[in-house]
Amino acid sequence: MTSDIQYPDNFIERLHAVWGEGFLSPGGAEEVREIVRDIDLAQKTVLDIGFGTAGPAITLARELGAGQVVGVDVEEPLHRRAKAIVDAAGLSERIDLRLVEPGPLPFGDASFDVVFSKDSIIHIPDKGALFAEVRRVLKPGGTFAASDWLSGEGPDAEAALRHMGGHLHFEMATAPQMEKILRDAGFKSVSSVDRNAWYAIVVDEELRTLERVYDDLVARVGKEVVDPWLQVRRGLARAVQGGGLRPTHLRGTSP
Ligand SMILES: C[S@@+](CC[C@H](N)C(=O)[O-])C[C@H]1O[C@@H](n2cnc3c(N)ncnc32)[C@H](O)[C@@H]1O
Repeated sequence: MTSDIQYPDNFIERLHAVWGEGFLSPGGAEEVREIVRDIDLAQKTVLDIGFGTAGPAITLARELGAGQVVGVDVEEPLHRRAKAIVDAAGLSERIDLRLVEPGPLPFGDASFDVVFSKDSIIHIPDKGALFAEVRRVLKPGGTFAASDWLSGEGPDAEAALRHMGGHLHFEMATAPQMEKILRDAGFKSVSSVDRNAWYAIVVDEELRTLERVYDDLVARVGKEVVDPWLQVRRGLARAVQGGGLRPTHLRGTSP
């Protein structure tokens, strides 16, 4: 989808400066390993929803031994950049990245052993429809393992979240809401693990990184872009440290 680009090239640059080449969300390869901890991916076929710039897909294939990773995302600049990163990593035969329209997944029933996603479902408004699709494309007994940015509960959480996203469109749910949507879609053994305490520490390190690379970033994308974005980043830090933003790991098993 090219009509509404939320991740243009200069935003990708900024996110890579904070989270590392190939990552548009916190924690890098270590957090990817944590999301799929205790799931044997060796030779498995994995779908990655919202591949971004392919850092997670590369971790799944190269470090965790997934046989085939198929990724879907909706923005052309990301697809182009991710393909270049995968090619440079020499993994284009094991990582197949597809630019798709939002909506039904373009795969047959029972196509995947594992469906993975990192911090992308926040952008998808109809989570019930998404999880019905995830269940459809998973093999019986297959696993959904994801991380997503969820919201805390109550008016303080809402206030904290209001200025956090900048230009991004977010549709946030709470952990109990997400668990219910997964169960309603037919998933078994649904669970969630709150990562707020972890990210509340990491977000401080991210602000320090940004201060360190500030001059370089300004040279690359301009002060008029970097300065307002730093304000957004500070809002995000407040949201996570105040408990409004709760990165969360989600799991469910297809019956
Ligand atoms: C915060 S980024 C995370 C990217 C990557 N998973 C990572 O952790 O580096 C969110 C991603 O979700 C993608 N996205 C948004 N709507 C989507 C949809 N309907 N289907 C698939 N991906 C979507 C965005 O284009 C973006 O790549």
